[in-house]
Amino acid sequence: MIKFVISSLCLVSIASALDLPSYIKPCKKDDPNLNDCSLKQTKLAFPFISKGDKKFKSPPLNPLLLPLIEVDTGPNLKLKMTDLNVHGLDSIEFKEANFDTKANKAHFTLSATLNFIGKYEIDGKILVLPITGDGNCNITFSGGDFTYDMNWKLVEKNNKQYAQIETYKLDMKLKRAYFHFENLFKGDKLLGDNMNMVLNDNWEEVMKEVGPGITHTIEVVVHNVVKAYLEQIPYREMFV
Ligand SMILES: *[C@@H]1O[C@H](CO)[C@@H](O)[C@H](O)[C@H]1NC(C)=O
Repeated sequence: MIKFVISSLCLVSIASALDLPSYIKPCKKDDPNLNDCSLKQTKLAFPFISKGDKKFKSPPLNPLLLPLIEVDTGPNLKLKMTDLNVHGLDSIEFKEANFDTKANKAHFTLSATLNFIGKYEIDGKILVLPITGDGNCNITFSGGDFTYDMNWKLVEKNNKQYAQIETYKLDMKLKRAYFHFENLFKGDKLLGDNMNMVLNDNWEEVMKEVGPGITHTIEVVVHNVVKAYLEQIPYREMFV
């Protein structure tokens, strides 16, 4: 079970219609090279999007603040992370931005290294070892390859068509993950250093426990950003 709160991101109502901002250039929906256009425009627009845009209620992404992520893997492990600052979203490298305007779906692939710095509380067992502690943490997703898939339906509002996202999914493959939990075992340095070493030596196993909670949170953040733009700009302004 995963709980998370993204209080800095307000839910956007489709009622507000906004014009295409100057940093987003439309693509032609029937362009045989629509994918090239989409990728090029995504790359050009992202530095502006990642700064945040109040008009679209889109938050700054560098760093991105995640107030709370709770990972609760049954009776075995409780992990709570608060005030996480996510660094690295500004250096995302987009590889593909494929829009299928007939099937109303899009597929993105991108790579990034993400650094999560914040506070943690952990209690339970990980890799069958007891673990407990609270303090500062540093989690790094190194060499991450991400795919993001979504589809939408077109809805009519005040005689204009808008895309309304129906499904979205983020997948992630990492080259490595690094963990550093300060102040484990009430500050016992020997036990803490050992545990951090064990976590890093077994990063793939650890990711199975803590990864989904973090990935799902990023998935929702990305969704909210995409939604902010896609659902407030008339479809025909983006795909002319
Ligand atoms: C977090 O950990 C990564 C990987 O070990 C390291 O490169 C980075 O400098 C650390 N950042 C902080 C703020 O400690």
